[in-house]
Amino acid sequence: MTSLLRRKTITEAAPEHQLARTLSWPHLVALGVGAIVGTGILTLIGVGADRAGPAVLLSFVVAGAICAAAALCYAEMATLIPASGSAYTYSYATLGEVIAWVVGWSLILEYSLVVATVAVGWSGYAVGFLKGLGVELPDYLTHGPTLAGSIADGTFHLATPGINVPAIFIIAVVAGLLMLGTRESARINTALVVLKIVTLTLFVAVALPHFDAANLHPFAPLGYGSTPGAGGVKYGMMGAAAIIFFAFYGFDAISTAAEEAKRPERDLAIGIVGSMLACTVIYMVVAAAAVGALHYSKFSNSPEPLALILREIGQGKVATVVAAAAAIALPTVILGFLYGQSRIFLVMARDGFLPAGLAKVSARGTPARITAVTAVLVSVLAALVPLDVIASLANAGTLCAFVAVAVCVLVSRRRDPGARRPFRTPLVWLVAPIAILGCLYLFTSLQSITQISFFVWNGIGLAIYFLYARRRASIA
Ligand code: ALA
Repeated sequence: MTSLLRRKTITEAAPEHQLARTLSWPHLVALGVGAIVGTGILTLIGVGADRAGPAVLLSFVVAGAICAAAALCYAEMATLIPASGSAYTYSYATLGEVIAWVVGWSLILEYSLVVATVAVGWSGYAVGFLKGLGVELPDYLTHGPTLAGSIADGTFHLATPGINVPAIFIIAVVAGLLMLGTRESARINTALVVLKIVTLTLFVAVALPHFDAANLHPFAPLGYGSTPGAGGVKYGMMGAAAIIFFAFYGFDAISTAAEEAKRPERDLAIGIVGSMLACTVIYMVVAAAAVGALHYSKFSNSPEPLALILREIGQGKVATVVAAAAAIALPTVILGFLYGQSRIFLVMARDGFLPAGLAKVSARGTPARITAVTAVLVSVLAALVPLDVIASLANAGTLCAFVAVAVCVLVSRRRDPGARRPFRTPLVWLVAPIAILGCLYLFTSLQSITQISFFVWNGIGLAIYFLYARRRASIA
């Protein structure tokens, strides 16, 4: 029992495992905004509107408020324990090894599945773009295998084979950039983030003048709660909030930059809170402009709702520009999450849970080996796994990590009230419980298949821990 709850003391990494400190606060804010603004706002606003109607605006408010509370907790933990493992390391230092393992295992769901999902989404844009240029890839090279039938009646089978080559391509490009250098990656990321913000501003500038209050009626046709509908999908304002949650996270990737920040104690808090605030403002304005410009029923099933809204209000050219700029800037999400996943694996390797050789840092101060291994892992996911089934699992993994970080803040305030905290979560006994209860509620609003898959994944994780990892822990 004691070994399950043993806690790690955070010490400086061995010289061959040390990362180069090259990032300052503007890089960190851009890393956060780049990871946050992605497929969530570009496509899920349609799915959210389908499930909640115009009340999707409130789904944004709820998901945003819960994420803001979690972000404040992250800012405190990241500056208190400025090490790259994020929620995994905070849990290891505060709650004990077995909980850290579950959190690390859940973070794999968050980071790896977001990379794979966004790479597949990007592949859709790229294939359409190439088609426009007259280059047509064979169909089986543009998507992963599709499945059909049901396990229950034994008709489950592979419907069409396939491998998503463009998804592998974009992951390889981003991984190559990250291996080249963290500072170089941060620069390119910042340029793409500016493009992304300009694009969303353009959307708002063009759509907002078409705001018509009549489009907001009826406001909550499916209610304010979370009601199960066909296929286990949850409808209503809270049901939609559990999906819209996807759009808000990514600020937590900044905490994985702790060992590469020049002034972590100040800059991590600025990066986490700043990027979260900026994105909340952007999202509220974009969502209001979208829902006000066109009745939600006309864009709720579109894979590209923002472009569709622009076309419907007679702005076809702007729609093309927005779609193209979105596709060009989308890889910043892949960059932020691939960066985060490789740092978390790096720390797990240092802790003895993965082969130590993987934790070796290149001459340029980047964790090149672990980045390459992570890229191969997520490429396999993106190329071969039918993602529509598992993408929402990323939300479940993230919710678990957010709960853990909020609990860490409360435990650490109680256990070590005198510790030097460069950033203190304001009203912590209110904010951290909001994060915990909000995340738990959103978890209950996910589809049951997602909830079950999450527990199965962690069951497998715990089996590996007890059979293998526990004995390998470097603090054992
Ligand atoms: N927040 C990220 C996105 O929306 C995961 O793509």
